[in-house]
Amino acid sequence: MKLTVVQDYDQMSKKAASLVAGKLKEKKDLVLGLATGSTPEGMYANLVKMYREGHLDFSLVTTFNLDEYVDLCPQHPQSYHTYMYKHLFDHINIKPENINIPCYTKNNLSASDACRDYDQKIVQTGGIDLQVLGIGVNGHIGFNEPASSLPISTHLVELASETIEANSRFFNSIEQVPRRALTMGLGPIMHAGLILLLASGGSKAHALKESFSGLVTTEVPASLLQLHPNVVVIVDRDAASLL
Ligand code: F6R
Repeated sequence: MKLTVVQDYDQMSKKAASLVAGKLKEKKDLVLGLATGSTPEGMYANLVKMYREGHLDFSLVTTFNLDEYVDLCPQHPQSYHTYMYKHLFDHINIKPENINIPCYTKNNLSASDACRDYDQKIVQTGGIDLQVLGIGVNGHIGFNEPASSLPISTHLVELASETIEANSRFFNSIEQVPRRALTMGLGPIMHAGLILLLASGGSKAHALKESFSGLVTTEVPASLLQLHPNVVVIVDRDAASLL
């Protein structure tokens, strides 16, 4: 694991964007695994800026998002579909057919069929080259919540109470936060060529400490990243305060 501690959120975002940009320049048909949430917003803003300045070309890029709420239509303002178009896809030259976000409301698929199709598509594309991750306050990655065991494949998950509480800031009330999501499993994440984990703020300090303590447990899903040979962690000083 390569740990970089930077001053603040802005520096984290710039550093993360320049890493992604560097990989994209090396491989034009990069397969990118993407996260949503507050953490990567600044990284996306920097990537959009670089694209507008003519430094990046997304025309051959394929993306796979980590997760999406169930019980929320893709057009909902708080869906991860809406988030991704708002922060990235609407502003770059990615081909719509190369965008993948877990969803089973689209083609009237069952959740298990949608998950199976998603995993198959990741495999057909050759796997993820660079996976961007945030981390939950409970150590989740994607929506792989702490549990006694974790599925390898994309699956339907009941969100943990900490996640519902943390994400209630995006909704008018905690009751409106969806209780279920589809999430990529640990398989595609751990098979990614490079993992970029980002974290900002003191609320992530404990989760980061538990994740990189030298112990591996599915009760702290991000701790499994210690088994991956190529992980870059970029965190700001507050998030790194317990490391
Ligand atoms: C989002 C995702 C989650 C978030 C995590 C942190 O696609 O997979 O694991 O990365 O919940 O969220 P923020 O960045 O909002 O603190």
